[in-house]
Amino acid sequence: MSEFKNERGSWGSRIGFLLAAAGSAIGLGNVWKFPYLCGEYGGAAFIVTYIIILVLVGFTIMLTELMIGRHSQKGPVGAYRAIKERWAWVGAIGILASYLILTYYSVIGGWIIKYIVSGITGNFNTTDVDALGGIFATFIGQPFEPLVYHAIFMILTLVIVMGGIQGGIEKASKIMMPALFVILFIVVIRAVTLPGASIGLEYMLKPDWSKFGLDVVVAALVQVFFSLSLGMGVIITYGSYLGKDEKLTTSAVQIPLMDSAAALLSAFAVLPAVFALGYNPSAGPGLLFITLPGVFAKMPMGSLFGVLFFIFVLFAALTSSISLLEAAVTYFVDEHKWQRKKAVIILGLVAFLIGVPSSLANGAFGDVTFINGMNFFDSMSFFAENILLPLSAFLLSIFVAWVWGTENAIKEATNNGTVNFGFSKVWIISIKYIAPIGIGFILLQSIMSLF
Ligand code: PFF
Repeated sequence: MSEFKNERGSWGSRIGFLLAAAGSAIGLGNVWKFPYLCGEYGGAAFIVTYIIILVLVGFTIMLTELMIGRHSQKGPVGAYRAIKERWAWVGAIGILASYLILTYYSVIGGWIIKYIVSGITGNFNTTDVDALGGIFATFIGQPFEPLVYHAIFMILTLVIVMGGIQGGIEKASKIMMPALFVILFIVVIRAVTLPGASIGLEYMLKPDWSKFGLDVVVAALVQVFFSLSLGMGVIITYGSYLGKDEKLTTSAVQIPLMDSAAALLSAFAVLPAVFALGYNPSAGPGLLFITLPGVFAKMPMGSLFGVLFFIFVLFAALTSSISLLEAAVTYFVDEHKWQRKKAVIILGLVAFLIGVPSSLANGAFGDVTFINGMNFFDSMSFFAENILLPLSAFLLSIFVAWVWGTENAIKEATNNGTVNFGFSKVWIISIKYIAPIGIGFILLQSIMSLF
């Protein structure tokens, strides 16, 4: 085995890969975004839309990314190149998307660390949502302190990725992921048994279709992709470290199932509590940081549960941020023969710096607007998630369906015909028609919203 091969690495076990991939998928998207999107877009109406898109497109793209990554044993750029040289740039779009996401993901990761620290020092001992909202706004509005936490989060990410695939990412995921599910269960049980929680439960189970519209579909599709880490080169990258005997079709079902379970559990942890505290479910991004501390303040030994909960949110965020960084690291290791350590340090530092204006956008820099009147933070997230992400997923489906060809792809999915792929016909219809048309439509919507 060449020295370069060692620089690249591979997964040590199937469960290690699964936990790492689920770790990438399960993150702030599940714990922070999914609940507030449910709150904003009519509870069950959003959940139903989300599940339909997940089934029609999410599974398909997950499997497809695993296929092309494992096929070439290369990161996204190399993966496209191995099949058709001229398409290599499409891989770069995905990497750019995940890298840009890392820059502001780390800012939010920093807020979580701050909340752990504040929980330990007892700063949240109030159920008054206005006071909690004030604490949150004051903290993120400051110029300096959030940057320190952003730096700490980024350093934690770097340390894990520096350890490589088995010794870093796989090991960290094996510890953090099981712990995450255990604590989530505990918090859900507490949240749904709060007095007044039933209104929230009803909200989540009874669709309010009056809120349904094109914007709900767009938000749900973007959320499916963001939550499953699709369209960003990350799953291609993780797939590239898989052995040729791995059953991709099984993984392509298991990862989304774990991801959806975490998203739904998180919504059950947050929304009933929001109603129980008399807070507005459509409050948006502040839900996790404003209402949950209130919930913990209400329960016996609440500060202990609060700190534990935010530690596990941190785990969810870290297992995702390492995958965001890994996609770019793999690119420099594969394509430019950099050492992993060098790639990690340089890319981490640059990502931190690009994140600085995002952090400041919640305070003094908030009035400076970029895309469509949005501040730096929102512009970055719009560009990465609403433009680059659907663009890269759209091109992926066109590429696999019409350039590589479904027959070749199916050979990869079935390990050269040795494993069963019961849904192959459905996959073909989805990758040829449903995925490109659906994703292309969303992409057009996003582009048109700019004018
Ligand atoms: N899927 C992660 C989440 O839900 O928070 C975020 C994420 C990770 C997005 C990796 C994109 C990605 F490539």
